[in-house]
Amino acid sequence: MNSPLPLRAGAHGHVVPEQADVLVMFGATGDLAKKKLFPALYNMALTGALTADVVGVASTKWDHEQFVNNAFEAIRTRVSDVDEKVIAMLNEKMSLVVGNYEDPQVYKDLAAKLEGKKTPVIYLAIPPALFEQVTQGLSAVGLTKTARVVLEKPFGRDLKSAIKLQDSLEAVMPESQIFRIDHYLGKESVEDILIFRFANSIWEPLWNRRYINSVQITMAEDFGIEGRGAFYDGVGAFRDVLQNHLLQVLALIAMEPPSELTSHYMEDEKIKVFRAIDAMEPEEVVRGQYVGYLDEAGVAKDSTTETFAAAIVHVDNWRWAGVPFYMRTGKQLKETVLEVVVEFKQPPRMLFAETQAGSPNVLRFRLGKNDGVDIELMAKSPGDMLETVPVQLNVEFSAALGDRQEAYERLLRAALAGDHMRFTRIDSVLETWRILEKVLDTNIPVYPYFKGTWGPEKVDELVPHGWIEL
Ligand code: BG6
Repeated sequence: MNSPLPLRAGAHGHVVPEQADVLVMFGATGDLAKKKLFPALYNMALTGALTADVVGVASTKWDHEQFVNNAFEAIRTRVSDVDEKVIAMLNEKMSLVVGNYEDPQVYKDLAAKLEGKKTPVIYLAIPPALFEQVTQGLSAVGLTKTARVVLEKPFGRDLKSAIKLQDSLEAVMPESQIFRIDHYLGKESVEDILIFRFANSIWEPLWNRRYINSVQITMAEDFGIEGRGAFYDGVGAFRDVLQNHLLQVLALIAMEPPSELTSHYMEDEKIKVFRAIDAMEPEEVVRGQYVGYLDEAGVAKDSTTETFAAAIVHVDNWRWAGVPFYMRTGKQLKETVLEVVVEFKQPPRMLFAETQAGSPNVLRFRLGKNDGVDIELMAKSPGDMLETVPVQLNVEFSAALGDRQEAYERLLRAALAGDHMRFTRIDSVLETWRILEKVLDTNIPVYPYFKGTWGPEKVDELVPHGWIEL
């Protein structure tokens, strides 16, 4: 593999990539397109950010009417107060190419449709198993010469397959044309971690092993696999979420400030974090499966796929040595929560020992719905005694700052603009697979758990002082 990295921009600045003139969506009749991509395109059209034409590609034999009506219905169910003028504009911009992805004809038809377009963005909203075949097909008709190709995660299913996939992509296009999605990098709440850490000077002196006791990252969902059984059963929680979303969030918490706010400098810092993490050992993880999973459509009756995964990670570098990073994720849990809890150490001397013990300061990044930040501090409890009581400082970003943009809209805009900032680079993706190497496809036990709980009890052994809830 070769991925030459550009030099730091000098007085002449960076080369500004061309704005794309067409967006091609493979999997245009699928779930992701319906739930995320069409609503994002609508919002872009509404704000004038959609200048490119939109060409769907699908194997479902729909005509133009069926295609656009399906897309518009998806928009109407997810966006309130839809502006019909914007829908009419989208109707003008959208078209569909139908064909089987195994058939060379579909690529020829697509190439004919893109005649005269200079900078296509080709979004592969299709199962990862099809990435190689589709990019070969695009290459055969010359489309990979200039197109940017956007790939949904997971990129590969382990280290070996990710290298193989990368090799097959690099044979037809350079790294600079590959855009690997991890939609968490498109979330404003996740980007806020960077602002919080590097635009406020008060945290840096505390942001290390001297003051921080542990970091806990939770991504819990109170729903199941939502009809995605056939996909999910071949993937599981480690590959679906932990290898990508959770490790990316961990990297933003742990990384050093980049020397410039560009994609390469960001990735350079994240990769240093990943390199400081040893491969997880089987005894450092817990796998679980919710009771009832085996009855879901598309799931093998004897499946051992995990719907819950937790792990303890050590970032073995100067800043973090000895600070455990705990991660957990699962389906059908008690609540839907996406958060990072940073637990600070106790003061060196317990003047108010009785009540203060067991209540260290805690900082919580809320990254899901109702995103914001909470800080738990000690205050004097009312009355005669000098006793402590925890109080919270909370910021709700939507109340303080107004609406946030949707991750997929930001990612589509970035891909159309050719900006890699919110996408992952191959070397850092490979490091994350290396971290999971010893715990994938092994016979680590899978503990059952009931729906509506916090997962198998076994997970409590991983976190001796328990998961912190505010
Ligand atoms: C996806 C996973 O990447 O992220 C899903 O495949 C998961 O299983 C989803 O539900 C969660 O995304 P969000 O943005 O709702 O936290």
